[in-house]
Amino acid sequence: MRLKDIFIEKARERGIEKIYAPRLKKSDPLAFLASQIASGRISLYKPKKSNRLCLTIYGEFVEGIPDAFAGKGDGKAILDKNDLLDFSSRFPYIVIDCSLRDIHSQKELISLDKQIRKTLSVVRKFMWDERLVITSFNSGISALHYPSTEDFLEKMGFKKAVLLDPNAEEKFNGERAECFIIGGIVDKSGNKKGATEKIYRRLEKSGIEVERRRIELRGDITGVPDRINLIAEIVLRAVLDGCDVEKAIYLSQNRKIARWRLRKEIVRKSEIASINGRRFRFIRKSLFKDLSGWLKINEEDFYRCARDMGIIVIDDSLTPKRLKVKPF
Ligand SMILES: C[S@@+](CC[C@H](N)C(=O)[O-])C[C@H]1O[C@@H](n2cnc3c(N)ncnc32)[C@H](O)[C@@H]1O
Repeated sequence: MRLKDIFIEKARERGIEKIYAPRLKKSDPLAFLASQIASGRISLYKPKKSNRLCLTIYGEFVEGIPDAFAGKGDGKAILDKNDLLDFSSRFPYIVIDCSLRDIHSQKELISLDKQIRKTLSVVRKFMWDERLVITSFNSGISALHYPSTEDFLEKMGFKKAVLLDPNAEEKFNGERAECFIIGGIVDKSGNKKGATEKIYRRLEKSGIEVERRRIELRGDITGVPDRINLIAEIVLRAVLDGCDVEKAIYLSQNRKIARWRLRKEIVRKSEIASINGRRFRFIRKSLFKDLSGWLKINEEDFYRCARDMGIIVIDDSLTPKRLKVKPF
């Protein structure tokens, strides 16, 4: 359940269907409205009874007399922050640990900044600003900031916090936790393999227990987006929407990331055949159908990758016997 679902439920209980919300952001406006109310920036008030362009609790914009006005008012609110934050324990914190900023280049720091901002947009789709925590860096955005992840975790005393780490031994299966920690690390240059583990070791040294989990796609991390905002999106889809992790990865994946995995799968599934003594590698056409169920690729990606790798795509009707297939 996302914060907006609680908001819709609370609005409906109060007989509110149409909301006049001026200057509302257009992408997922209900989620944005709910996040702004939970952050205490605005509340719902009794409206003036005049015709307006209203947002309905079904997410549509319609002309009509609003049941509520969303904004800053001086009267008593009919729905405010407290109505939503009663349910706050259902929502995890997302921590971005920026303690490794000094191993980044200027270009990477710009990208890190962008990813942090995009993570705030992701968090607003599911929760609200104060569920995002930035440690060891003042990002200037409306998230919470702490001098270190240790400070935050010690203050909160969570029963279960998870550090997301591509090199962890254990897999993330969508299990809930009170807090998910993502490394504020951007891999554009140099070798930062194992950098997330440094965060783990540091926490361990401070006596703070966190679980380490790897997000993987069918046994491999290739194909899992590694941008901070997309990791946050995958985790929140899994824990709040109850989405299967593979589906959550698919929804956050782009074609470029999918193609990296496609290349690996093409090699894995290729076979060797010989015709008139000439050996060649091939894959079967039906592989596209199998892969496109969990990789965001199209037919063009499939044929182009195979061609670039010198692997022939053959029709499934060609039998191994006719091709004299040898084990690869
Ligand atoms: C660009 S990654 C950096 C990974 C770093 N090179 C390493 O080897 O630890 C940024 C952050 O996203 C998260 N992340 C990326 N891919 C992940 C995966 N497959 N599983 C779990 N966490 C992942 C981690 O928290 C990581 O610190």
